[in-house]
Amino acid sequence: MNITVIGSGYVGLVSGTCFAEVGNKVTCVDIDPIKIEKLNKGIIPIFEAGLELMIVKNVKNKNLIFTTKLSEALKNSDIAFIAVGTPMGDDGSADLQYVLSVAKSIGQLMKKRLIVVDKSTVPVGTADKVKAVIQKELDLRSSDLQFDVVSNPEFLKEGAAIVDFMKPDRVVIGADSKYAFNKMKELYSPFFRSRDRFITMDIRSAEMTKYAANAMLATKISFINEIANICEKVGADANQVRLGIGADQRIGYSFIYPGVGYGGSCFPKDVKALTKIAKENGYTAQLMTAVEEVNDAQKFVIAQKIVTRFGEDLTGFTFGIWGLAFKPGTDDMREAPSIYVIKELLKRGAKIKAYDPKAINEAKEHYLKGFQNIQYFDSKYEVLKNSEALVLLTEWKEFRSPNFELIKAKLNSPVIFDGRNQYNSLNLETKGFQYFQIGK
Ligand SMILES: NC(=O)c1ccc[n+]([C@@H]2O[C@H](COP(=O)([O-])OP(=O)(O)OC[C@H]3O[C@@H](n4cnc5c(N)ncnc54)[C@H](O)[C@@H]3O)[C@@H](O)[C@H]2O)c1
Repeated sequence: MNITVIGSGYVGLVSGTCFAEVGNKVTCVDIDPIKIEKLNKGIIPIFEAGLELMIVKNVKNKNLIFTTKLSEALKNSDIAFIAVGTPMGDDGSADLQYVLSVAKSIGQLMKKRLIVVDKSTVPVGTADKVKAVIQKELDLRSSDLQFDVVSNPEFLKEGAAIVDFMKPDRVVIGADSKYAFNKMKELYSPFFRSRDRFITMDIRSAEMTKYAANAMLATKISFINEIANICEKVGADANQVRLGIGADQRIGYSFIYPGVGYGGSCFPKDVKALTKIAKENGYTAQLMTAVEEVNDAQKFVIAQKIVTRFGEDLTGFTFGIWGLAFKPGTDDMREAPSIYVIKELLKRGAKIKAYDPKAINEAKEHYLKGFQNIQYFDSKYEVLKNSEALVLLTEWKEFRSPNFELIKAKLNSPVIFDGRNQYNSLNLETKGFQYFQIGK
């Protein structure tokens, strides 16, 4: 099939590349000429395991091309995915300006019958808006071209995006025509070798499914963090409690790990947007508001532990940070808890030495740009030299089993603040460390 993917960011790049990998002819479009120029030179703007190799291979075999020219891309396409950002607007709602601007361009430029697929995470009712915008442009052209608008929310996880896309748990398709359902099924069939995992539904339900999924996952995280905070007050151990509740299959072990809170490009904005969608429709989403409040507070729990240990004024203290990305496997720092923790420490006069396997450039160039008193290192042990404590904020695999003797030798004092409870089962106290974790 010929496919256009509009927006070559995280979702657009991964989905376009995976569609090409199974034999489709894919054109990835972006409004950012520098990004497209780099992609055409083989420079991939994000880190995602396996992505670069797959892009290079599919560009070489001509299944994948990158361009800024939407008109060229649409010439032969049967399906056009909208995969542009839907960032948080000033009032907390999803900002649809990029989606609707793409819809307008599609209406102006489409040349043949087209299925337009909303892959961006969008509020319920967006497909109707996209449809109206395209129709208006077609009317202005006196064109009677046919088109469908489909909702196909994306569930990939950064850090495991390729695997998630190639072997999805499910593909949700919201449509209102048999033609669109059939085409979408044809497109996704190669991703289901063993059994069909399509979930078809009406368009509004598909739009809502994405928000409900992210809201549920965010709720689990805030739930366990709240339990962890109560555990600390009553002298219980959140990690033991986690194991105790996770054994119940109705609860399960995933997403109930106490830590520094959720971040990233999706949960924070999607929880907020869902609250807003509810409000606009006359419903107060109390649970969602609480989930967000618990998470906002959680980002400061580890900084508070540092203050309790070292005092309100951290002048003269240096802290060695392990992990900047909002989660392992990605260089994405959007809403990363590390940003909040580091700013809190800097505010109190501390100096920071930071290491992350992939996200140092993002920190330097965007999220912690301009902050004095941060030094970046390309060795995790180097950041510990002359530092007062190690502060672990992202659970990268390479942090799981470090050389604790070396950590102790490098640090001024053997203190670890573990924002991801990576070492909670290791009895670090018996190895001579002062060990601070979440929920104990
Ligand atoms: N990142 C994730 O893990 C993830 C997972 C599931 C769903 N989503 C959703 O997918 C959508 C995209 O997210 P992302 O993380 O890929 O965003 P992103 O910011 O990484 O990428 C968006 C891209 O769209 C481009 N763009 C903007 N306007 C354009 C236009 N008019 N024409 C062509 N390109 C244009 C931008 O230049 C950018 O490259 C969002 O709605 C997000 O909520 C993201």
